Amino acid sequence: DYQDPHIFVIGGASGDLAKRKIYPSLWSLYKNDLMPKNTFFVGYSRSKLTVSTIRKAVEKYFGNIGNDIDKLEEFWKRNFYIAAESYDHSESFERLDIHITQISEKAHRIFYLALPPEVYVPFSQLVHDHCMARGDSSTRVVVEKPFGHDSESSANLSDHLSNLFTEEQLYRTDHYLGKEMVQNLVFQRFGNRVFSPIWNRDNIASVVISFKENFGTYGRLGYFDQSGIIRDIMQNHLLQILSIIAMEKPVSLNAEDIRDEKVKVLKCIAPIELDNVVLGQYKGDPNGTTDESKKGYLDDETLQDKGSITPTFATTVLYVKNERWDGVPFILRAGKALNERKCEVRVQMKDVPGDIFSKGELARNELVIQIQPNEAIYLKIIGKQPGNSSDCQETELDLTYALRYPGQNLPDAYERLILDIFRNSQTHFVRTDELSEAWRIFTPLLHRIDEERIAPLRYEYGSRGPEESDNLVREHNYTFYRNL
Ligand code: BG6
Repeated sequence: DYQDPHIFVIGGASGDLAKRKIYPSLWSLYKNDLMPKNTFFVGYSRSKLTVSTIRKAVEKYFGNIGNDIDKLEEFWKRNFYIAAESYDHSESFERLDIHITQISEKAHRIFYLALPPEVYVPFSQLVHDHCMARGDSSTRVVVEKPFGHDSESSANLSDHLSNLFTEEQLYRTDHYLGKEMVQNLVFQRFGNRVFSPIWNRDNIASVVISFKENFGTYGRLGYFDQSGIIRDIMQNHLLQILSIIAMEKPVSLNAEDIRDEKVKVLKCIAPIELDNVVLGQYKGDPNGTTDESKKGYLDDETLQDKGSITPTFATTVLYVKNERWDGVPFILRAGKALNERKCEVRVQMKDVPGDIFSKGELARNELVIQIQPNEAIYLKIIGKQPGNSSDCQETELDLTYALRYPGQNLPDAYERLILDIFRNSQTHFVRTDELSEAWRIFTPLLHRIDEERIAPLRYEYGSRGPEESDNLVREHNYTFYRNL
């Protein structure tokens, strides 16, 4: 299969995702000889462009070219560009098909929909009607979130796609599944005897999965105001992490075995109760040092709904009702315009029973998996203060990647996922049933927020988010020893 010709079509070639992520990832895979040798790339969008205008727009995201200049010329020689009249225009797709067939008749075809969600339906329909690979060659179709905005709209989209393509042909991207530390979770959990016996309700007090960004939503409000932080981050990225943290051991590393376990664990989660939610929206910081930080969410001139209640911050608590996890809170927390950029998982152990150190409270053990930035895993433990002291002290078993693996290149999430697509590996993509379970958990809450117009609490740009969030976290058996 890897010897066969492949054609990679970038739908929406002139857009932001194509520029920042897709073309740079393709280049990196090409440069490192990771993709099939005989691959061609076809940019496809509504703008009247040429390969050389695309090249100008995207190369600044390619990083240092160094000695690879010849290879870079080779890469661009393998690129083509076709303009579509519109994405519901049959003849444009017929022309695309003729073009692809001229490049290579028998190639496997990959269609990456780096497109606004409104055009998924016609675009995928016309790919199906006019552009499928010939003979034994495969067709793969890659789609990005948003996959609908609630259970019903997502099911409609899934039904539409399932009528056109088989599950094997469909790749639903959640780019968090392409991150080093997210992929590492399975190895940590199932490759170590030390973790598996304690990975349960007898030992674990709570799990916090948090995502923080230190910038707001400027430039993206058209999308964000329709979506909000729960749909943007929590229902997908954070819930995916939760399912890998909480799932049972899969029968094998095979994609279906892993995804079966992820679905099973999601099925054990009840829809989120409003009592277990704190919502926030950022306001400007009058003492902010940048123009952006002085402005709140509602101060953005591009905002249509001036009284928008779209949350830019949310904390929610979920419970996995099965034998392993019954009663253990899984706390998801996500926010924009906070004090730092960080994504991490904190697995906090219960208190040590029968404390003999009687010098005050022993800090709980905690396993921290830092997904970004600065990939790391560390375990907070109690030890003796070194030296003459006989006091105890909290310390860390520390696996910071930059120290343990200096100079190690960790590829961008998109690069790994695109490589998986070439390799026909669906492990790190979202299956239809997984998606539908994810929406089942969040839809009632999202509908209630919209229908009852539940107003978010205000928090200042650059802060840690609303205080009420910390209170909710505390109430759910997580002890703060420091400000997260
Ligand atoms: C995207 C969200 O899915 O993930 C963005 O739409 C967010 O709002 C981004 O900024 C974060 O991705 P990363 O890889 O930069 O953490």
